[in-house]
Amino acid sequence: MKDPIDADRVYRYHDGTKHHFNRFAPSLGYLDWATQPDPFRRFVGAELVALERREPGDEPLYEPAFCEGEVPSSPRTRASLSQLLFDSLALSAWKRYGESHWSLRVNPSSGNLHPTEGYVICGALSGVCGEPFVAHYAPKEHALELRARLTREMWTELARGLPEGGFFVGLTSIHWRESWKYGERAFRYCQHDAGHAIGALAVAAAALGWRARVVDELATTELASLLGVAAQRGPEAEHAETLVAIAPHDARLRDAAPAPQAIAPATKLAWSGAPNDLSSSQVEWDVIDAVEEATLKPRTDALDAALDMPRAPAWIPEREPVSLRRIVRQRRSAVALDGKTGMTRDAFFQTLRRTLVGEKRFVLDTLPWEPSIDLALFVHHVEGVDPGVYLMLRDPRREQRWRAATKSEFSWHRHTDGDVTLFELKLGDARSLARSVSCNQDIAADGCFAIAMLADFREPLARRGPWFYRRLFWESGFVGQLLYLEAEALGLRATGIGCFFDDPVHHALGLTGNEFQSLYHFTLGGAVDDPRITSEPAYPGD
Ligand SMILES: Cc1cc2nc3c(=O)[nH]c(=O)nc-3n(C[C@H](O)[C@H](O)[C@H](O)COP(=O)(O)O)c2cc1C
Repeated sequence: MKDPIDADRVYRYHDGTKHHFNRFAPSLGYLDWATQPDPFRRFVGAELVALERREPGDEPLYEPAFCEGEVPSSPRTRASLSQLLFDSLALSAWKRYGESHWSLRVNPSSGNLHPTEGYVICGALSGVCGEPFVAHYAPKEHALELRARLTREMWTELARGLPEGGFFVGLTSIHWRESWKYGERAFRYCQHDAGHAIGALAVAAAALGWRARVVDELATTELASLLGVAAQRGPEAEHAETLVAIAPHDARLRDAAPAPQAIAPATKLAWSGAPNDLSSSQVEWDVIDAVEEATLKPRTDALDAALDMPRAPAWIPEREPVSLRRIVRQRRSAVALDGKTGMTRDAFFQTLRRTLVGEKRFVLDTLPWEPSIDLALFVHHVEGVDPGVYLMLRDPRREQRWRAATKSEFSWHRHTDGDVTLFELKLGDARSLARSVSCNQDIAADGCFAIAMLADFREPLARRGPWFYRRLFWESGFVGQLLYLEAEALGLRATGIGCFFDDPVHHALGLTGNEFQSLYHFTLGGAVDDPRITSEPAYPGD
C-alpha cells in the first residue's frame, strides 16, 4: 500500500536535489581529495577465489545476441560465471594522465566513482566453492570473495523457483562514494549506476545464451540479509538494491523470487571478512539517509508488467557484424564530441529501437514492469531527419497524457520507421537548448543527437509506492547502457549526463508539476579523444 507521507519524502528529495540555472543541488562545493573513497570494496579475511579471463573473440555477434535463442546456452561453470562478470562488472582498462592513474569498468558510473557492488549467490560450483555460496565480486582482482557457505537445504529453498542452471546476482550501493563528490544528488547517481549495472549484466548474460530478470518481490531488508550487508552501518555502508536472477534463455524466471522462509536463515549465516575502510573520514548526508529509508521496498507480489504491452517482432538489421564482447569491453564515455559527425536515418531509428520492449522483449524480460521512461530527443546531425526536438514514447499508451501535458504549439507530426514512432515537437537548431539544459556541457550539443529521459513520475510512484523511485532511475540507466553499446556498435561514442538543470528541461517542453520528470540525459556522436590520456590493460599480463 502506498504511504503518502513517504511519497512526499521522495518528492521532497527529488525537488531538493534539482539543479537550477542559478543554484546547484547542495554539495560540499569542493573535493576533499584527502578523503576520496577507495573505489574497491574488499572483505578483509574472506577467501579470494580467482576467476578466469578470456579476451573477446569474434563470437557471439552483437546483434543476434539480443534475439532469444540465437546464442546457445552455456552451462553454469566457473568459466561461464567468470565470463559473465568479466563482461559486466570487471575492469576494462587503466588510464594514465601525468601523475594520475585510474581504472575504468565495463559498467559506467557517474564521475567514475563506482558505488555499485556485485554479489553472486549460487549452488556449488567446481573450481569456485564445493558448497552453495554467497560471494562478493572484487573487480580489481577479477575474483570472488567467499562471504558465506550455505547448506544444500538452504540453497534448494532459495533456488526453488529458479530453473536448472540458474543463480542470482545481487547489487548494492555505497552512497558515500558518490556523495563525496556530488553531495545530496548522489543518491540519484547511485540508482542510475545500478541501472547501468543491471543492463551490463543482462547483455553479458545474453552473450552466454542466458536471460536476466530483476526479481522484484523481495523486501530491501530481506535482500540485505541475503547479501550479508544488513549489519553494515555508517556512511560507508552498502545498501541493498536488487536481486537479478540469471538462467538459460529458454527458462522461465517469473517465479524465481525466493520465499521469505528461504531467506530467513541468512540472518544466522557465518559471514567471513570485514568490509575495508574506504576513507579516513566521511561527511554524513542526512537527506540521503532519509530518501534511502523512504524508498525501502516492502515485500510485494511480482510486478507482472502488463502482458498486453505493445511490442515489435524481433528484427535483425543489416549491419556490419561486430563482436558483442568487443563492444561491451571497449565501451567508453566520450569526454568531447566533434560537433560534425552525423548518422544515417536507419542507424538513428535502429538505435532508438533497441530501447523498446520489442526485440523478443529483452527490455521487459529484464525489468519486469511497463516502461516508464520516454525519450525527448534533441536531433542535431541525422541524415534525413530535420534538426529539432522530438519525443519517442516507449509506451505508446501515454500519448494523450503527453499531448495534454506539453506546449500546445507542438506540431506532433509523426515520423514512423517500422515499429518506431517519433513525434516531432518543434523543428529548428536544438543545440543551444540541449547544451544549456545539460549544465552547459558541450557534449549535449556536439553529438548526432542528445536525449532527456523523462519518467512517468507521479502516477507509478502513487500506484506502486515510493520504492518505485529507485526503479525509475534503474530503467533510465538500463536504457543508457543499451544506448552506450549501440553507439559503440556504430563506431560512435556516447556519454551519460547526470548533470542537467531539471526544471528548465520541463519548462522547455511546457511541463508543469511532477507528472513527468527528467531523470537522466544522454548524448551520442563522434568522439574527440584526449591524446594526453594513455591506456593500459585492465589486468596485468593481458
Ligand atoms: C549516471 C551517469 C552520469 C554521468 N554524467 C556525466 C556528465 O554529466 N558529464 C560527463 O561528461 N560524463 C558523465 N558521465 C560519464 C562518466 O563520467 C563516465 O561513465 C565515467 O567517467 C567512467 O568512464 P567510462 O564510461 O569511459 O567507463 C556519467 C555517467 C553515468 C553512468
